Amino acid sequence: MTLTQLNAAPSAADRIAAMLEEARARTLRLIEPLSEQDLHLQHDSLMSPVIWDLGHIAHFEELWLTRNLDGPVEFVEMPGMYNPFEHPRRVRGALPLPSLRECRAEMHEIRVRVLERLRAADFEDGSDLLRDGYVYAMVAQHEYQHNETMLQTLQLKSGAPYRAPRRVHLPAAPALAPNDAPMVRFPGGRIPMGTDDRSRAYDNERPRHEVDIPPFWIDAHPVTNGAYLSFMEAGGYENPAWWSDAGWQWLREARVSAPKYWEHRDDGWFTRSMDLVERVDESKPVCHVCYHEADAFARWAGKRLPTEVEWEAAASWDPDAGRARSYPWGDEPATIERANIDQLSFGTVRVGAYPRNISPIGCQGMIGDVWEWTSSDFTGYPGFESHPYPEYSEVFFGNEYKVLRGGSWATRPGAIRNTFRNWDYPIRRQIFSGFRCARSEP
Ligand code: AVJ
Ligand code: FE
Repeated sequence: MTLTQLNAAPSAADRIAAMLEEARARTLRLIEPLSEQDLHLQHDSLMSPVIWDLGHIAHFEELWLTRNLDGPVEFVEMPGMYNPFEHPRRVRGALPLPSLRECRAEMHEIRVRVLERLRAADFEDGSDLLRDGYVYAMVAQHEYQHNETMLQTLQLKSGAPYRAPRRVHLPAAPALAPNDAPMVRFPGGRIPMGTDDRSRAYDNERPRHEVDIPPFWIDAHPVTNGAYLSFMEAGGYENPAWWSDAGWQWLREARVSAPKYWEHRDDGWFTRSMDLVERVDESKPVCHVCYHEADAFARWAGKRLPTEVEWEAAASWDPDAGRARSYPWGDEPATIERANIDQLSFGTVRVGAYPRNISPIGCQGMIGDVWEWTSSDFTGYPGFESHPYPEYSEVFFGNEYKVLRGGSWATRPGAIRNTFRNWDYPIRRQIFSGFRCARSEP
C-alpha cells in the first residue's frame, strides 16, 4: 500500500467519529423546530421533556466513552439528574433542567472529550467494550433510540403541532381491498434465533441458539387500517369475547374505541402524524394500537399474534439456502430505499410500497413502518449474559413486558435488524406500534 492510499483509507476512529457526528446531526435536526418551552414542557406523563433526552444522551455518552473507557465499568446507567431509574419519566418536568443553550454547550463539551479519547483507543488489544468499536456502536444506537422516544413525545406535544421536517419522496402502492390479508406458510424446522455478534448487537439478542418450531402461517403484511376498521365496525371494542381478561380490564379503564390519534368526523375517520392530518388510508398498516388491541383483533380474525420466534423465523430464515438473513432482503444494510425507516417519512406508507422489503418466505414490510407486537414476554435467551450493564435489558426481564419486532418509520437504520428486540407494557400505544397475525397449522 502506498502512503497516499494509507492516508485515504478512513481509520476505525474516523469511521466512529463520523457515526457519532451523524447521530448528533439528526438529533439536532429533530429539535430544530422546537421553542425553549416546547423543549422543557412535560407534554405527557408517559414521556420526558425533550431537553431531558438531550442531556441524557450526552451524559450516557460521557459515561461510556470517556469515564468507562479509562476505568472499570460502573453498574449504574449514570449518576444524577439524567439517571432514568432515579427519576421516572412523569416527574422529569420538575427537574432543574438546563436551557437549550446550556445543554448544547454541555453536549459539545462532552463530545470534544469523547473525540480526544477516541484517538488513543486501542481496538485490537483493548477491552471487550472496545473490540470492534462495540461501545461506540452502543452509544450511537442509544442516541438513535432516544430519537424515536423524542418523536413519540413530539407526536404527543401540547400546543401547536410539531412542524415535522418531512422527506418529500415516498413510494406509492396500489390500494388494497380492506379485508385482503394473505398469509404465507413457514415450513417449520430447527432454526437459529438471535446472534453471537459483538460489534453492535445488544446483549438481549445473544446468544444465537437453535429452536424447534412446527409449521405455521403468518400474515404476508401488517394488519391494515382497512382490516382494523372492519374489526371496529363489527363491534370489536364492545365484545368481551375477543379480549383477554387483562385486555378487557384495560379497555374498561381506557375507554377507547379506535387506535390512538384517530378521530371520527362527519365524513369518516382521520388520523394525525405530527402536523399532518389525513383521512385514514385503508391500505396502510394500523399504528398506535396496544398489545391488548392487537390480541383482540387477532382473536376476532380467527388468528393469534406470532411468538417472537415465529416473527424472527419469518423475517430471517431462508429455507432453500438453509441460513438466516440479517434483514428480510438479505445482509445488505437497512436503507430508506429498502424500507420505511429513518424518521423523515413521518408516517406509514401503504403495504407493499417497498418491493425489496420481503423475506424469503414472502413476508412484506417486516422492517420499518410499525413495530410489530408479538405474544412473547421479554426474557433472556438460554445462556443470556448481561453485557455491559444489566440496566439495559436484564432488569426488564419477566412477564410485565411484551416483545415488539421490526422497527417503525421512526427507527434509525442502525437500531434495527431481524434479531433486534424492543419491549413495552401491553397497554402502551403512544409508541409506533402495529402487528401482524399468525395461525398454527391444523
Ligand atoms: C428498548 C426502547 C425499551 O427506551 O426504555 C434507551 C431503550 N434504553 N435508553 C427504552 C433505551 C436505555 C429502551 N427500549
Ligand atoms: Fe437511555
